[in-house]
Amino acid sequence: MTTTDPARADTADVASGADVLDGDALALDAADALRAYRDLFVGAETSLVYFDGNSLGRLPRASVDRLARFATDEWGGRLIRGWDESWMRLPFAIGDTIGRVAIGAAAGQTVVGDSTTVLLYKMVRAAFDAVVAADPARVEIVVDRDNFPTDRYLVEGIARERGGRLRWLDVDVTTGVTAEALQAAVGPETAVVLLSHVAYRSGYLADAASLTRIAHDAGALIVWDLCHSAGSVPVEADAWAFDVAVGCTYKYLNGGPGSPAFAYVAAGLQDRLAQPIQGWMGTADVFAMGPSYVPATGMRRFLSGTPPVVGMLAMQDTLALIEEAGIAAVRAKSVALTEFAVRVSDALLAPHGVTIASPRDPSRRGGHVTLSHPAMRAVTARLWSADVIPDYRDPGGLRIGLSPLSTSFAETLTGLRAVADAVRAEG
Ligand SMILES: Cc1ncc(COP(=O)(O)O)c(C=O)c1O
Repeated sequence: MTTTDPARADTADVASGADVLDGDALALDAADALRAYRDLFVGAETSLVYFDGNSLGRLPRASVDRLARFATDEWGGRLIRGWDESWMRLPFAIGDTIGRVAIGAAAGQTVVGDSTTVLLYKMVRAAFDAVVAADPARVEIVVDRDNFPTDRYLVEGIARERGGRLRWLDVDVTTGVTAEALQAAVGPETAVVLLSHVAYRSGYLADAASLTRIAHDAGALIVWDLCHSAGSVPVEADAWAFDVAVGCTYKYLNGGPGSPAFAYVAAGLQDRLAQPIQGWMGTADVFAMGPSYVPATGMRRFLSGTPPVVGMLAMQDTLALIEEAGIAAVRAKSVALTEFAVRVSDALLAPHGVTIASPRDPSRRGGHVTLSHPAMRAVTARLWSADVIPDYRDPGGLRIGLSPLSTSFAETLTGLRAVADAVRAEG
């Protein structure tokens, strides 16, 4: 089409560009090896666009049945006998599955426990105490200023209660912790380093193997927050020589609201760590009911009280899907989705002043893309009322979470078009 009217020329370009994007979304969906998985989630058949699986993953259809069966057959039917028959073993059985399927951990090193915050607190404090016991000069916890609030807050508390000190890493909020930044911060006073593998705000994917090596070369232990990587980005906890890691199960593992977190502790470190919430479930012989606390050997010592059985049910279904698909295929789809989102944003949103506040290099990016614009808070509210569900993080960041098993390329395009409309309306 040729025209001398600049307004019409602009419209024509946008129209043909949009057609290309539609064609690309269709082609990408058709070629997607994981496309059949989307239908295994409740709501995928509706027109709702879900960009928040990095906060709360969709509900797997299989979990609907599992939860109902649990209620009637196990809780309703077996009552207290359920503990002996299976529930007592669940934290370890599901932990081993998470280890095998999602985080590269051999059996006996992963357990499902408390909420992420509580488990992180227990593990960071245990790691800190173990290092200080061996070398009292090591009093510092290294943490970055852009880490998730709970991570920053709990180390403030640990430093206060244990007489430690925080060493803050300043990071660019559109990127994350680099090797150079960590190298400059660690030394003979470092006890523990606490970092997120994927930054909650920008989606920056840290080089966990290199950063772990830097912490170890400085004589420190490292605790990894895997909340935004477990089930989305491959992790090799054993191969990368992790000490301790904690991660959420309600994001890419679709465990449901408030499902409990998992903790990994390297086999050789487990019996050196003593966690602070000394409950009966962490003892060597739970029903001995002895006069004082004797921690179990192995991962049981990181439990405190009765395992949250109901909260552990649903994650098993997504773990089974990830095991079937393979985490490498999940990551490949995740990269394809975020690459497509970046391309669509450049085409449809950049003209309205929206910038990408996530790494452009896919090898340094996790499962979400953050789009930045001063109006994003209002844009988010507008989108939610139109059944397009991303979330908002200051400053001016709209997070587009793209769960590889349940998000399609067509859904991504539809949602980003809605973002463009909302930004235009708010702009
Ligand atoms: C990176 C990260 N760490 C920690 C947490 C805290 O988890 P919880 O609220 O389950 O304690 C979250 C929650 O979203 C998170 O995203």
